[in-house]
Amino acid sequence: MARGIVAIDGPAGAGKSTVARQVADRLGYLYIDTGAMYRALTWKALMLGVNLEDENALTALAANTDVALTGSGEGQRVYVDGREVTEEIRRPEVSRAVSLVARVPGVREEMVCLQRQLAAGGRVVLDGRDIGTCVLPWADCKIFLTASPEERARRRWLELKGKGYEVSFEQILAEIRERDRIDSQREVAPLKPAEDAVVIDTTGMTLPEVVEKVIRLCRDKGCEPVERRGDGS
Ligand code: DC
Repeated sequence: MARGIVAIDGPAGAGKSTVARQVADRLGYLYIDTGAMYRALTWKALMLGVNLEDENALTALAANTDVALTGSGEGQRVYVDGREVTEEIRRPEVSRAVSLVARVPGVREEMVCLQRQLAAGGRVVLDGRDIGTCVLPWADCKIFLTASPEERARRRWLELKGKGYEVSFEQILAEIRERDRIDSQREVAPLKPAEDAVVIDTTGMTLPEVVEKVIRLCRDKGCEPVERRGDGS
């Protein structure tokens, strides 16, 4: 019987987190943003001035850092050693550095362990790069969301502009391409669809269309919505 484990993987800017949040909300499942965990560690490494080429230092940092997520959906908060960093981890300097941290095997081991603990109870939607291939190969429903690099850069650019950051579209596109390159070429858990994942190219699709499609696929795989109580809770 399906335990309600939904894995949503894909490259930067494909809309994973927005889709995963809405799918989790509709199903009444817990949303787990695994990219936020790598970002949280990257934020700490930048704060401490850790050399991002030093794998041993990053592995030690991961082993000695408490990364925690609370809440779900839009209300998810991210903490590093008890300090809230929900906003800080979205800064462009963190986005630029995170692929370097995420490629370190020792860092990934720590994060995967934590992600499996968080997902153990089922009824979860995780988004990331390697959820269907490495973290939870036993997931009930695996989705790989993608879109053209230009479309993904356009979405990120609009998002950052909306937050007041002055960034050029060309720079974002170059960074997306560079992150794709590092994420898909790294030795451990490279970005690629699981063999049994359904690949959805979201270029030209609206958000509600993507969410509907994912919900349908989840239900086909036996991931049913949690019964909500009559009082709406
Ligand atoms: O989804 P995001 O942009 O917040 O992810 C940040 C980085 O973390 C990205 O460069 C890839 C990495 N990542 C990963 O390697 N494995 C995951 N499960 C999630 C994210």
